[in-house]
Amino acid sequence: MSSNDDRDPLFRYDDPIFADERLLEITHLPGPDRIVGRDEQMQRVADALNPAVFGSEPNHLFIFGKTGTGKSLISRSVTQRVITEAGRDDVTVKYAFIDCGEQNTEASVVKTIAQIVNEPENSGVTVPDRGLGTGDYYKRLWQTIDHCTDVTIVILDEIDMLEDDEILRKLSRAGENRRISDASIGIIGISNKIDFPDHLSERVKSSLSRDELVFSPYDANQLVEILEKRQDAFHDSVLEDDVIPLTSALAAQEHGDARKAIDILRNAGRLAKKQNDARVTAENVREAKEKTEADRFNELIEGSPQQAKAILYALTVLTQNSSEKEFPTKIIYNQYKELARRLDFDILSERRVQEILQEQNFLNVIQSERTGRGRGRGAHAKHRLLENPSIVEKVLLRDSRLALLEEGADTETQQTRPGR
Ligand SMILES: Nc1ncnc2c1ncn2[C@@H]1O[C@H](COP(=O)(O)OP(=O)(O)OP(=O)(O)O)[C@@H](O)[C@H]1O
Ligand SMILES: [Mg+2]
Repeated sequence: MSSNDDRDPLFRYDDPIFADERLLEITHLPGPDRIVGRDEQMQRVADALNPAVFGSEPNHLFIFGKTGTGKSLISRSVTQRVITEAGRDDVTVKYAFIDCGEQNTEASVVKTIAQIVNEPENSGVTVPDRGLGTGDYYKRLWQTIDHCTDVTIVILDEIDMLEDDEILRKLSRAGENRRISDASIGIIGISNKIDFPDHLSERVKSSLSRDELVFSPYDANQLVEILEKRQDAFHDSVLEDDVIPLTSALAAQEHGDARKAIDILRNAGRLAKKQNDARVTAENVREAKEKTEADRFNELIEGSPQQAKAILYALTVLTQNSSEKEFPTKIIYNQYKELARRLDFDILSERRVQEILQEQNFLNVIQSERTGRGRGRGAHAKHRLLENPSIVEKVLLRDSRLALLEEGADTETQQTRPGR
């Protein structure tokens, strides 16, 4: 009897599709030989961080670019290389990668950096999860940075999600204000909002000198190359020939988005596996694209209240019933009122609806553009969906309350079609 026969038949022990699925996880950090088309950007990041190799203060850097253009990857990859290089000369560089979407308050960012950097045996302090005020967390942060590192690189990913930019000022002034004496700090701020620096407070704007770098989207050929360099995630000849080109073409449709390309490829593999297929096909890819877009949109709106979902539904209905893509607040409001009545929701004021649209713009669920004065604000703004309306609709209807709209949606919307 072979040892395989002893195994519990309830489980599967082979994976006919994936050889190593982790290579397709978004947080996986590929080696430099698997990074495509970013030599210039890597060099610029390296230039900014270069002093850290010798234990000196790096330049601060802001990186902008649309989703899936490699901002997080390049920041982590180059920082990792700095750490290795510095280590050769016994210079201790550490980095704290902070997702500001999750840690969006000053106190939680300070605490998290301190916890990542801290080695209690060297710093003599602990960094408790709770119980300290922001000022005390700062004190421990300075102590950990001073005692545990020569240079600390703080990567603030999705920096535009920070509630307050005071931390940028404190970190950039730490040396000057003698909060730290034996170490220095470099900041990398990452955002997909190119106008992010305009929103910084004057205090930060004037105190934070920095380099800026923009990452442009990939073209379909670069996406092909990125995926080809990850195809060892699959067993040999599992991918049919058209799978990578099709995935790349689909992920390049709006803007060349490597995140989307990798997500689609992984989901296509999972679909094939679930269906017990031996190969991944173009059909799997198309199905995976839908799933990927729906998952992503779902992630974006998960935390939104039902009223916000109803407002988004109003925008979706308008988009589906018109050749226009952008709609003024007023038109969306009228459509929303109609839906809110049918859903038996309290009807919010137009002003409140305007605020919610603004929030959704901030969260990248929709895009709002000013038509008159102000930046995408106010009654004069126009709003558009960033995702395909049929996908948005599908995801919104997952909400049990909104699902009530499913019947008869067509007839009702006819009456409120905007005039063209
Ligand atoms: N040039 C590249 N070569 C190889 N893989 C890449 C490249 N650019 C991005 N990727 C991969 O694509 C995925 C998305 O990249 P990354 O997370 O860096 O994008 P991002 O610009 O930070 O996007 P977002 O704004 O959505 O956070 C990751 O899995 C990353 O490894
Ligand atoms: Mg990122």
